[in-house]
Amino acid sequence: MIHSLDKNIKKDYNISSTFQKKEVSVMEYKVEVLTGIRPTGDLTVANYLGAVAPIVELQAQGVSPVVFVADLHAITDNEPATVRQYIHGVVADYIALGVDPNKAKIYLQSDIVGEVTTFTALLARLISVAELLRVPTLKDKLKNNARPETANALLLLYPVLMAADILLNRARKVPVGEDQLAHMEVTRLLARRFNKRYGELFPIPQVLQVKSLRILSLKGEGKMSKTNPGGAIFLTDDVKTVANKIKAAETAFEGVMNDKLESHILIAKGLAKTTSERDEVDAIIQAHKSGKPVMGQFKQIMTRIVQNFIEEFQTKRAEITRDPSYIPSVLEEGAKVAKENAIETLGEVRKVLQFD
Ligand code: TRP
Repeated sequence: MIHSLDKNIKKDYNISSTFQKKEVSVMEYKVEVLTGIRPTGDLTVANYLGAVAPIVELQAQGVSPVVFVADLHAITDNEPATVRQYIHGVVADYIALGVDPNKAKIYLQSDIVGEVTTFTALLARLISVAELLRVPTLKDKLKNNARPETANALLLLYPVLMAADILLNRARKVPVGEDQLAHMEVTRLLARRFNKRYGELFPIPQVLQVKSLRILSLKGEGKMSKTNPGGAIFLTDDVKTVANKIKAAETAFEGVMNDKLESHILIAKGLAKTTSERDEVDAIIQAHKSGKPVMGQFKQIMTRIVQNFIEEFQTKRAEITRDPSYIPSVLEEGAKVAKENAIETLGEVRKVLQFD
C-alpha cells in the first residue's frame, strides 16, 4: 500500500503540538471540509447516496463545506468539450439535492486553473514516477482496462492534481469513498514531504471516510453506474421509467437475502422522506426473511419512494435553472473565496521554494 512509500515518517504530525512547538502560523487549516465532484454526466441514485447525501448531512450538522467541480480531473477520461457541457448541470444537481450555496461554497476548479496547475507541477517534483505507478487505483486501471501504452499521462498525475486541490485549500477533512483512499494517502504523503523539505507549511488533511455503500446494478453484474444505464436509476428518469426499471430488477427468493436485495433496501431507505416509510420497508423485509412472498409489495413501496424523491428533485432543479444567471453567480461567488485561498497558499509555496 501507499503507506509503505513513506517509511521514514511513522506518525502523522500532531498538528496542534507542531503548531505550538514551531509557532508557524501557516500550519492552520483554512477549509473545514472539502470535496471535489467530477462533472461526467447525469447522476444516479447511487451517486446521490454515496457522494451527495454525506455532504448534505455534514451541512445539516452545521459544517460549511467547500464543494468544487473537478473538471480537470474529469478530462482524464472524457473530452474537455463534453466535460464543459456538464459543469452547470452538476452544480444545479447538487443544489437541488440539498447543498445550500448560503452555507456551502461551490467553485469550479478551472476558475483557479493557474494556481492548481502550477501547484500540481511543484508537488509532482516530490514524488517519483515509480511511486505514482504503484498507486493502487492506477495499478488496478492498468491491470483491468488500460495499458501504459494507451493510458494518457494525466491519469498518472491524477492523485497529484487532487493533492493540489486539497493542499491549496488547506482542508482539514476530505469526505471520500473507499475508491479515493489511496489518493488521499498520496495527498498526505506530499504534504509531509513538502513540510519536511521546505518547512512546515501544510497541516495534514484527514480522511473523512464516507461509509461506502455498495449499490449494485438493478440488473446484470457490477455496481450501479452510468456505464450500464439499464441497471441504473438516474435522477433524470421519469416516473414511468423508474417503475419499469424497478419492475425488471432482480430480487431474492423468499427467506433469502442477497447483495441485490440489500442494494434495493439501501436505495429505498436512503431515499425515503419519512420514518414511517422506512419502517414500512423494514416490516416487509422482516416478512421476507421469515419466508413470506412479499417482493412484489417491496417493489411497490420502493417504486413509490424513488418516484417521490425524483419528482421532488426534478421540481427543485427546474426552479433552480429557471434563472440562467443563478448557477454562474453561485460559481462566481465560490471562485472569489477559492481564488483568495489559492493565491495565498501558492504565494507562500513560491516563497519557501524561492520560486517567486
Ligand atoms: N478524485 C475525486 C473523485 O473521483 C474527485 C476529486 C478531485 C476530489 N479532487 C478532489 C475529491 C479533492 C476530494 C478532494 O471522486
